[in-house]
Amino acid sequence: MKHKRVAILLSGGGSNMVALADSMTGEHPARPCLVLSNDPTAAGLKKAADRGIPTSAVDHRPFKGDRSAFEAELRKPLQDARPDIVCLAGFMRVLTGDFVSDFQGRMLNIHPSLLPKYKGLNTHARAISAGDAEHGCTVHEVTAALDDGPVLGQARVPINVGDTPETLAARVLVWEHKLYPAVLRRFAAGDKTPVQMP
Ligand code: GAR
Repeated sequence: MKHKRVAILLSGGGSNMVALADSMTGEHPARPCLVLSNDPTAAGLKKAADRGIPTSAVDHRPFKGDRSAFEAELRKPLQDARPDIVCLAGFMRVLTGDFVSDFQGRMLNIHPSLLPKYKGLNTHARAISAGDAEHGCTVHEVTAALDDGPVLGQARVPINVGDTPETLAARVLVWEHKLYPAVLRRFAAGDKTPVQMP
């Protein structure tokens, strides 16, 4: 079987990258080909290297907000790695429509909310402040609009009395690590039917 090649983009600890990478063994239709970060010090890069996955970093800071120039550099390691699928996993830079269109239909993102609720940042605090009974995470196809695009899976978690953004984030993260690998496995096999968890 010819495996689908998966590039994973991250900015931080990379726990979702680890969940994805560790799922891509055996009968899985995909394998990781690159882990790429906008932060050369991101802890996720070392975790990828420890797993034998090629890594690369393009520091966004010298580009001083020039997204197109940053993305021109970001494209280089991606072109070399020739991914079939690109997974954003805690990648905290907004991508331009041009960049997204290069990977239209084959770029996925995980977002810590039940989209379309709470696009953007501080999702856990916003869900608690709103008095919501539940929260969760969403994996979706990336389109030019931020945290938008067809939903490929969602996992729901209860919000408990006394939850803080930190306790809620930890509860959601457990489900991110189940949801994203489940969606990627299905997507890599050509199936876009949404995954519902639990
Ligand atoms: C995850 O909770 C992910 O959903 C979130 O960042 C965290 C990264 O953690 N992503 C976003 O907020 C994207 N807007 P990780 O580096 O341990 O996977």
